Amino acid sequence: MKTTELIDIMTKGHNMESYDRAYASYQWEEVEKSFSWYETGKVNAAYEAIDRHVESGRGDHTALLYSDPNRTDQYTFREMKEESDKFGNLLKKLGINKGERVFIFMPRSPELYFSFLGILKVGAIAGPLFEAFMEGAVRDRLEDSEAVALVTTPTLLSRVPYKELSALKHIILVGGEADEQNGFYSFEKEMASASSELDIEWVDREDGMLMHYTSGSTGKPKGVFHVHNAMLQHYQTGKWVLDLKEDDIYWCTADPGWVTGTAYGIFAPWLNGVTNVIRGGRFSPEDWYQTLEKNGVTVWYSAPTAFRMLMGAGEAPVKQADLSKLRHVLSVGEPLNPEVVRWGMKVFNKRIHDNWWMTETGGILITNYPAMEIKPGSMGKPFPGIEAAIIDDQGNELPPMQMGNLAIRTPWPSLMRKIWKNEGKFDEYFRIKGWYISGDSAYQDEDGYFWFQGRIDDVINTSGERVGPFEVESKLVEHPAVAEAGVIGKPDPVRGEIIKAFISLRKGHGASDNLKEEIRSFVKEGLAAHAAPREIEFIDRLPKTRSGKIMRRVLKAWELDLPTGDLSTMED
Ligand code: WT7
Repeated sequence: MKTTELIDIMTKGHNMESYDRAYASYQWEEVEKSFSWYETGKVNAAYEAIDRHVESGRGDHTALLYSDPNRTDQYTFREMKEESDKFGNLLKKLGINKGERVFIFMPRSPELYFSFLGILKVGAIAGPLFEAFMEGAVRDRLEDSEAVALVTTPTLLSRVPYKELSALKHIILVGGEADEQNGFYSFEKEMASASSELDIEWVDREDGMLMHYTSGSTGKPKGVFHVHNAMLQHYQTGKWVLDLKEDDIYWCTADPGWVTGTAYGIFAPWLNGVTNVIRGGRFSPEDWYQTLEKNGVTVWYSAPTAFRMLMGAGEAPVKQADLSKLRHVLSVGEPLNPEVVRWGMKVFNKRIHDNWWMTETGGILITNYPAMEIKPGSMGKPFPGIEAAIIDDQGNELPPMQMGNLAIRTPWPSLMRKIWKNEGKFDEYFRIKGWYISGDSAYQDEDGYFWFQGRIDDVINTSGERVGPFEVESKLVEHPAVAEAGVIGKPDPVRGEIIKAFISLRKGHGASDNLKEEIRSFVKEGLAAHAAPREIEFIDRLPKTRSGKIMRRVLKAWELDLPTGDLSTMED
């Protein structure tokens, strides 16, 4: 696509005016011209996200609107630059070198973001850890990554077995006392004396910047390694998928301990120069609606699990909130049930735009654009410059409506560059003719939309019928008594597998055998007899990852009395 055309379509309505035109003629090379490396050959993603806006005269624009139940704070791009420069100077004083891992283990706070950006500015690799991790999960990650420094709080320090971590030399305590002899530094004391002018480390596009650990079906969590080049994808998906414009107030609800919270909670908004809302503390429907209203959020990126909880809370809290500024709503992480999309239309008068990607892909790959019709229940269409396909196990591309491996032609800018110290695991992703194999099963319809079916190993085969658990779950949550549902295949001597549903009920509905029967016939009638769960079990809460995915493998393990495996990504 020629630059003139890009500008042309960007001045009208949505940033991407026509999906088909954009897809037909997209070149990643055009996006590169937005950044400094185009001239210098060197780059730094934190510079591009923050400092560049100060240099271009937008230093006084609000970059961060932070709040939690005890604190409200805001920072301009200029202030973000100064604070992250100070932190970078602190790391330099400690002798942190390019390529070394510096981890962050703390609740959301402005200091977390200063630290994150400062780490990148000195060329080190940031490893944000979710605050709810317990000692085992923290140890696994710090050990495997051989992190040399950690930013944490005195409270969380009790979950860091630092005496056993030989690589870990420095611990920077936010709100804590220094004990420099033993490697403990006070964040506040160091920041007070650090210079706010940093000599940035200019790196190559292929130099590392970020690690996120993610669980597979076997073994310990894998360290997914991303490089500065990923910012191309963060920037451009921010523009075309999040539809960010200069004056937007954007809220991504994910914690930076998960990839959504960095790619779309840090890079996409700031590379696009928009105001980023960060809300700390726990989820409650009232709190979330207030956060939307008080900050005047225009673009909101969240997850199906959150939408379902909001849906479960009823219409009273949403009716009380003034959400008139809200323009664009997005969802990621797990299947977005059509029922939730319909609910969103009703209460927000907005289409919730589903999109698909993974920790390993580093950025959005398949999505419903504001510039196209969405089909509720579909993940949408590939991002321009991305070739997605459904392939069989031999690498043959399958025709429309046939279920198979969801695969992506390599490479793309934000694809992971390695699994830390595990080449074998990395290579597994590319085992079929060089395609990236997602591990998800899906099909593509006649119009080119992709429909998620399940993780490859979740697909249920009952009496020879293939059933995607998502289909059944979607139907189940349409029942007025059902808040959330997780569906697994349970081995059965006659049918191969039968469908078992674990269900949490909405407020005001009590468990009973009658209700089970009613739900069963609801699915039978609404979907198909073979898709109706033969077994139903009511439980208070479903096991979920922090990114909101129902952990079917945990349900299965409970059901079959097997070990549950690695639970470090499970929500507390
Ligand atoms: C897996 C990746 C993407 C950041 C958060 C999760 C599932 C993701 C969707 C979607 C159905 C989805 C897939 C994928 N997933 N988005 N829109 N519809 N499933 O990242 O923890 O790396 O998980 O999440 O199964 O493989 P993650």
